[in-house]
Amino acid sequence: METRLVAVDPEHPDEQAIAAAAEIIRRGGLVAFPTETVYGLGANALDPAAVRGIFRAKGRPSDNPLIVHLASPADLPAVAVPLPLVDPLARRFWPGPLTLVLPRTAAVPDETTAGLDTVAVRVPDHPVALALIRASGCPIAAPSANRSGRPSPTRAAHVWADLRGRIDMILDGGQSGIGLESTVLDLTQQPPVLLRPGGVTVEELEEVIGPVRIHPAVEGRPAAGPVASPGMKYRHYAPATPCVLVEGEPAAVAAHIATRVRQERAAGRRVGVLASREAAPDYDADVVLVAGSRTDPSELARHLFHGLRQLDEAGLDLLFLEGVEPRGLGLALMNRMRRAAGYRIERAGAGGPHAGGAGTGGDGAP
Ligand code: TXA
Ligand code: MG
Repeated sequence: METRLVAVDPEHPDEQAIAAAAEIIRRGGLVAFPTETVYGLGANALDPAAVRGIFRAKGRPSDNPLIVHLASPADLPAVAVPLPLVDPLARRFWPGPLTLVLPRTAAVPDETTAGLDTVAVRVPDHPVALALIRASGCPIAAPSANRSGRPSPTRAAHVWADLRGRIDMILDGGQSGIGLESTVLDLTQQPPVLLRPGGVTVEELEEVIGPVRIHPAVEGRPAAGPVASPGMKYRHYAPATPCVLVEGEPAAVAAHIATRVRQERAAGRRVGVLASREAAPDYDADVVLVAGSRTDPSELARHLFHGLRQLDEAGLDLLFLEGVEPRGLGLALMNRMRRAAGYRIERAGAGGPHAGGAGTGGDGAP
């Protein structure tokens, strides 16, 4: 299949481009489009055959349900039961990076929900996404537009690299502003359960609806057996290059990574670091990519997936990631980085790495 790559102005998308994309959606085809979180791979959410096409193109396990994207909260009753908490949440966070899990209606096919009796729904905050949904005249089911297991795409080039030849069209609307996927909140439980941290923080949710329970898989390794959100059990966001996440106080993290980089390079390995601007000069690594300032989690979030993809293409043997405080957007960052590292985590401080007398870094930029 030939994949059309069409550039659109992210603020004022060209009507013709949107009409062509909507026509593909209506005919049961697949269109990748930008959202404020990451790029999505869209199909008509109410068309079982079209939705099966998403799973085929991504190589996604069929038991992992999709998010249904709406142009307006007013369209919700067609696909989901609007439980009482929807109203205050929608008022505050839609359009935006919040996905709500609700009882589904009969209109939503099993393919979209992977057979669950709930459906995940959100209204994206992006002019291109909203124009596409409106022009298509149907809700759009869209997972992140990456091959299954790869980091989510935050640029059209990432989608092109993963899905070229497997989908009909990519709408290129530039870089995604948030860079991490939406927050997923299950409203069918009391209190509501956070299934995936994302662009809307727990602190912001609790301001509106009171206490939220954080699912244990959010902060730790997913348990074996039945899981609340099927996406939890898959290896996600994973570079092919082995990856280590270092957690602890910022200065200790930087010192730990500086030492580990020296050790690994002394052993003949090529090493990369996805670094904060503050700590980057400490690392004498083969490749040091700056993701942003460690005082600005939103900057780190915007560059995380692009950074992982770039480091993965650099032919390295080992990657190090700097942990951040798991608060606010930091909770989502740590969730994605722990998965990227396959839960290979080293704790900084407490005597430092088993370094055999290595110092504390700071010996100049590469
Ligand atoms: O920001 C986002 O959410 C992006 C953009 C494109 O909107 N989409 C996205 O979709 O990240 P995806 O498929 O990569 O992640 C959807 C997550 C998965 O972890 C899935 O298991 C969970 O939502 N999910 C979907 N439906 C669910 C349901 N009915 N119950 C529980 N979890 C559900
Ligand atoms: Mg995904």
